[in-house]
Amino acid sequence: MQLFKYSIIFVLWVGTCLAIGKEDHSDSFEALRFVQAIQGQLPSQWLESPTHWRNLAKEAILSKERQGPLEAVAKNGIFFIGDGMGLTSVSAARVFKGQRDDGARFGEESSLHMETFPYSGLSKTYCLDTQVADSSCSATAYLCGSKARFSTAGLSPGVVFGDCRGQNNTNFHVSSIVEWAQREGKSTGIVTTGRVTAIPGAANWAGIAQRSWETDADVAESGKNPEVCPDSGIQLLRKEAGQRLNVLLGGGRHRLTPVEKIDPETNSPGKRTDGRNIAEEWLVMKEGQSGMARYITGRDELLGLNVSEVDDLLGSFAMQGLPWSDELERDNDPTMQEMVQVAIKILSKNPNGFFLFVHGGKIDSAHHANRPGRALREIVEFDKAVKTGDEMTDDLDTLIVVSADHSHTMGYCGYNVRGNSILRHSIIPADDGFVFSTLNYVNGPGPAWTNPDTGLRHNVLLDNTSNPNYELPVPVPLFSEAHSSEDVPIFAK
Ligand SMILES: *[C@@H]1O[C@H](CO)[C@@H](O)[C@H](O)[C@H]1NC(C)=O
Ligand SMILES: *[C@@H]1O[C@H](CO)[C@@H](O)[C@H](O)[C@H]1NC(C)=O
Ligand SMILES: *[C@@H]1O[C@H](CO)[C@@H](O)[C@H](O)[C@H]1NC(C)=O
Ligand SMILES: [Zn+2]
Repeated sequence: MQLFKYSIIFVLWVGTCLAIGKEDHSDSFEALRFVQAIQGQLPSQWLESPTHWRNLAKEAILSKERQGPLEAVAKNGIFFIGDGMGLTSVSAARVFKGQRDDGARFGEESSLHMETFPYSGLSKTYCLDTQVADSSCSATAYLCGSKARFSTAGLSPGVVFGDCRGQNNTNFHVSSIVEWAQREGKSTGIVTTGRVTAIPGAANWAGIAQRSWETDADVAESGKNPEVCPDSGIQLLRKEAGQRLNVLLGGGRHRLTPVEKIDPETNSPGKRTDGRNIAEEWLVMKEGQSGMARYITGRDELLGLNVSEVDDLLGSFAMQGLPWSDELERDNDPTMQEMVQVAIKILSKNPNGFFLFVHGGKIDSAHHANRPGRALREIVEFDKAVKTGDEMTDDLDTLIVVSADHSHTMGYCGYNVRGNSILRHSIIPADDGFVFSTLNYVNGPGPAWTNPDTGLRHNVLLDNTSNPNYELPVPVPLFSEAHSSEDVPIFAK
């Protein structure tokens, strides 16, 4: 009996120890396995010395000191939004650029141009009525200064999603930074890699109760009357901020033209069913205002412009959004950098200054498709446009702000040695015997995380992660990878 009692106690004690052991998820075991795996891979002579790091720190502080406070009123403003460019995206893109473009020994030590700006901060991104933002509620926040309901733009909370009559009530419309700049006599412009009539750019002139309402056909598809709640294309012609906008560059010809019009470049019809051609009407309206207006559809036309003869410019280079940055040349489409360059040349002719809004939309598209390689390439392209904007303007009269509208679920995790390609995987296997990717999405349309036949996790070692279209496997299947709500960075100078 006594023996039995002690046996029970012993079993309970062992059980408790095992349970505690199982609960102990400390990193010491992982760390040991990892350190053994990378043993000898990075000889000391490759690695920076303490002097290097201390000099770097000293230089950072001294440059802040040299810079001092800059007390001047900015005449010009450029606002760059990387769509879906959260903090993790910025960290990973920095390494990608370092490894691919900068000739850095490892990559982690590189910087994006935006990161060299002297001021930085963080921004919350939630919508008025949702925990996680979409690009239209957040556009209303950062362009109009007021949070809005999910998937509505340029409107106050009185208008719920799809509320056509509410949209028709101008008391619910909120003004934008483009309008404020115009009231100050400044020139204004919008550059996007998305469609010119789409959110977020359109939130600068339009109030729409459903972000997809870019043509009368879109409004009608939602069962609403386009006469009551006009689309963002019509509002470009009707609303004062649209009428006064000087430069609008991006894609989206499909939504500017009517079904009767066959696009000469693509042989496909437009989407509008009211017979209206927004591009042509815009040109006529602008000719009446300045007499120096142009409508263009190709990169060669953009680069061939004599900017001293152009005050107003509409460029719509693709039927939908612009293609991925490495496919632009194929389609005679301009880079973000080129669009920003021409926009600034035209807008800066105004002695009162200008405001330019630049939207990098492809980052978001890549993340939604679980393609980390694409997302990082597009951030590097976006960063080149930031650099161009910075180089073409003077710090003494131009405020540049770079931020994002929301983040994505991509994570950036261990363990591998410094300098390992950001697109590859851990050096040690996980508990199931397979290695795991450094970048991972929580959900999305990518291939299944586990093979339904074997029940085993997908072996990423078999994948070609250098292919820009490579899609990461995901644990949670979702039609389109979800936005996420951690804070986004703001860089400013
Ligand atoms: C739309 O707004 C205008 C101007 O406020 C008003 O005259 C018109 O009746 C409204 N239309 C509808 C259908 O509410
Ligand atoms: C651009 O236009 C201006 C004004 O019409 C003209 O003086 C100048 O020669 C033109 N430049 C080029 C390169 O054609
Ligand atoms: C991986 O993809 C890259 C880029 O598409 C391609 O150049 C390379 O040949 C591919 N490698 C293999 C082994 O298929
Ligand atoms: Zn998105």
